Amino acid sequence: MSQEDKVKKAAELIKNSDYVVAFTGAGISVESGIPDFRSPGGLWERYNPNEYANYFTFLTHPEKYWTMHMELREMVRDAQPNPAHNALATLEHEYGKLKSVITQNVDFLHSRAGNTKVLELHGTAQTSRCLGCDKTFYFTKVEEMLDQGQVPPRCPHCKGLIKTNTILFGEDLPNDVVEQSREEMIAADLLIVIGSSLTVYPAAALPSIAVKTGSRLIIVNKEITPMDIYADVAIQGMAGVILPRILTVLEEIS
Ligand code: APR
Repeated sequence: MSQEDKVKKAAELIKNSDYVVAFTGAGISVESGIPDFRSPGGLWERYNPNEYANYFTFLTHPEKYWTMHMELREMVRDAQPNPAHNALATLEHEYGKLKSVITQNVDFLHSRAGNTKVLELHGTAQTSRCLGCDKTFYFTKVEEMLDQGQVPPRCPHCKGLIKTNTILFGEDLPNDVVEQSREEMIAADLLIVIGSSLTVYPAAALPSIAVKTGSRLIIVNKEITPMDIYADVAIQGMAGVILPRILTVLEEIS
């Protein structure tokens, strides 16, 4: 099947669905300037996740995580939603089809694109909290502390360690978000997986729930994923190009 035929099939699947759910990974934000983790040149090629993104290492060497954060923050700060994020917002607001976005990303680009039900499986970098007194800090406040040379940043009230609300390796995912995500997967009659290698559990187990409970499956990813064999259509390509093309066909056939 040609890529154009796959795009057409994807548009038809969306047209014939009532409860569409999107499951996204770092790949959807690459065209916003944020590198993914496992592509060549990805973040984990430059930073060993066991040293820089592991919860227990963070407790003993927090400066490692915050040093990586300092080097990445310009990219995240300048990032804007790209046409793939905007296509998902259109699917929610103009077609009323997209009911939720379940994301592994912490860049809050889906919310900024306008999606209203965004389930952040791996937390968010938008806020941080003090591990001593649990006080919450918005990211602008933490950036201020970092700009003043406070690495790692410490709570101005109790001097406790400040940690972003992203889920590091070794940390549990937020139970309420996982439960809501499971419910969305069961409710979906169409799941669209975008920009994820589907290799990190427990998040990567969620799309299988949708397929096992009867959902159709579209995958849009730069490379083949372990779930392509279960997909009604799997399109290899750049999300920021493919998703707008699917919406163009959807408009033509609607
Ligand atoms: N369009 C579509 N897909 C893309 C694009 C793009 N522009 N760029 C990259 N990809 C694909 C890559 O080919 C890869 O298969 O996106 C996928 C990204 O995979 P990962 O880097 O493994 O990211 P992700 O699946 O989100 O990782 C899951 O692992 O390290 C943890 O917490 C981290 O949330 C992350 C989790």
